[in-house]
Amino acid sequence: MSRVIAIDGPSGAGKSSVSKRVGAQLGFLHVDSGALYRIMTWQCLLHHIDTANPDDVAAFAQTVNVTCLPQNGAIAYFVNGQPPGDAIRTPEINAHASPVATVKAVRDRVTAWLRDLTRFGDLIVEGRDITTAVFPDSPARFYLVASAEARAERRRKEEIEKGIANQSADAVKRSLLARDAIDSTRKYAPLRKADGALEIDSTNLTLDEVVQTVIDALPKEWKRGRA
Ligand code: DC
Repeated sequence: MSRVIAIDGPSGAGKSSVSKRVGAQLGFLHVDSGALYRIMTWQCLLHHIDTANPDDVAAFAQTVNVTCLPQNGAIAYFVNGQPPGDAIRTPEINAHASPVATVKAVRDRVTAWLRDLTRFGDLIVEGRDITTAVFPDSPARFYLVASAEARAERRRKEEIEKGIANQSADAVKRSLLARDAIDSTRKYAPLRKADGALEIDSTNLTLDEVVQTVIDALPKEWKRGRA
């Protein structure tokens, strides 16, 4: 049986950096579940699907195929043999991803892909519904939060560093809060802290401190001889 560390939280709370580091330290494959919702969104836009029409999105979702393979400590995704790269990280995808992720047929498909990844070994999976819906039985579940200002600043820096966009701090914060609102009020698998998940507020913590908090809270036998 493979083991799963589940990490949920809003955008910019630090899930990716923390998951990558913990995964590398323990030898668990890093899984970015948001990238699968972004791929769905990207494909909808490429095929001129109206993302505000849930029926059209649901029908189209059945036709999207993603190949998932372990690569350099993470699960890499391929669409028609190609990695999507930064095409799924643009402000346009940011704006359309939350409505696409409200569609049940999309969520069901992504959830099935995620559960199937356990065949590759131990996983650290980050997202919005990993602790509540995808792997609710994991004994290692975390809810990572940070202030809206800290999250917006991290996202803004990331977009500039990657050369994706150069938006004002306020614009990034507005887009982030708009997505939070959709993600946490949607009907299916909304973002919320799961009962029994450990909440970590990363606003005033360094990356090392958050990583250590996660590792300290893991079942003892998961870190034997590692951390
Ligand atoms: O984490 P992210 O910003 O890459 O996520 C992109 C979108 O996908 C975001 O609007 C929330 C949604 N998402 C989700 O609904 N469930 C997940 N497990 C992961 C992401």
